[in-house]
Amino acid sequence: LANGLGTTPPMGWNSWNHFSCQINEKIIRETADALVATGLSKLGYTYVNIDDCWAELNRDDKGNLVAKNSTFPSGIKALADYVHSKGLKLGIYSDAGYFTCSKQMPGSLGHEFQDAKTFASWGIDYLKYDNCNNDGSKPTVRYPIMTRALMMAGRAIFLSLCEWGDMHPALWGAKVGNSWRTTNDINDSWESMISRADMNEVYADYARPGGGWNDPDMLEVGNGGMTNNEYIVHFSLWALSKAPLLLGCDVRNMTKETMEIVANKEVIAVNQDSLGVQGKKVRMEGDIEIWAGPLSGYRVAVVLLNRGPLRYAITADWDDIGIPPKSVVEARDLWEHKTLKRHFMNKLTATVDPHACKMYVLKSVV
Ligand code: DGJ
Repeated sequence: LANGLGTTPPMGWNSWNHFSCQINEKIIRETADALVATGLSKLGYTYVNIDDCWAELNRDDKGNLVAKNSTFPSGIKALADYVHSKGLKLGIYSDAGYFTCSKQMPGSLGHEFQDAKTFASWGIDYLKYDNCNNDGSKPTVRYPIMTRALMMAGRAIFLSLCEWGDMHPALWGAKVGNSWRTTNDINDSWESMISRADMNEVYADYARPGGGWNDPDMLEVGNGGMTNNEYIVHFSLWALSKAPLLLGCDVRNMTKETMEIVANKEVIAVNQDSLGVQGKKVRMEGDIEIWAGPLSGYRVAVVLLNRGPLRYAITADWDDIGIPPKSVVEARDLWEHKTLKRHFMNKLTATVDPHACKMYVLKSVV
């Protein structure tokens, strides 16, 4: 979408995966504080996104959305001011239907222009737009109304389409929003995570470098349902897939292990690379997969993925990953933070544990 936003995939946090409807303004403020205190904001995590359940069930007598008094008594404008004062951005949530999925607050269907103005007047920077409880008309009819409304509201607001992939939003999303969900909801398990990566990968060629991203849903890293290696796979695949990197844990209480994953600068750099091309599966053999994608500067990012229960030696062939034959290549291991001493010709092999991956950036030296 030509609103100048999302030239690289958005990074930040969203309340849903950890807190679902149990949110309040204190959590949002403390999360903003924590993003700054941990240094995550400096690494690019700047959107603080409120998901479902922030508003009263009823609009006011002029038809305006109203922040829920029991949980957001200071109002959303005050929260936006606070978040902005920390150098961060505030995201909010609505729905292209009569009610949001929780049914605890109204959606924006029929109120698009009014709500877009409200969001702009509050200083909102990001809107996640869901698809529950609508009138049965096509999302390709309902979503562009909000797009136009936002474009007329006088503030640049990132638009995240949340249609769950049913109507193949990858095929039309780039004209309507800055990112679009390709999947239904993730949960905090290996099966859910890896299947969302698969569903999203199918649409790799529809991502638009510079402003239109496939969205396999938000991160579960740090929520406790996967092993550390599985979370490393989760973060590696999201980064390579140029997915939004929206943390979904409680960033006020992260373990050292969680922090080491989400603060991996080298993996983040793959996600935020200026070339903006989504990586994809280039080889599959049973439980073994190679995912790869080009980076700026004639470099290539590659993930050697072991989806199975046994340990494997996995080989990436230059033929598969887009490096010219006979090239001599230097490999940077992004999780070990080491440039490998030896150079590689034609292929690179590594041993990968069950439900784990290796991630490299490869650069030709000859
Ligand atoms: C469905 C979305 O896919 C989720 O990410 C979340 O926003 C919930 N709705 C909120 O009700």
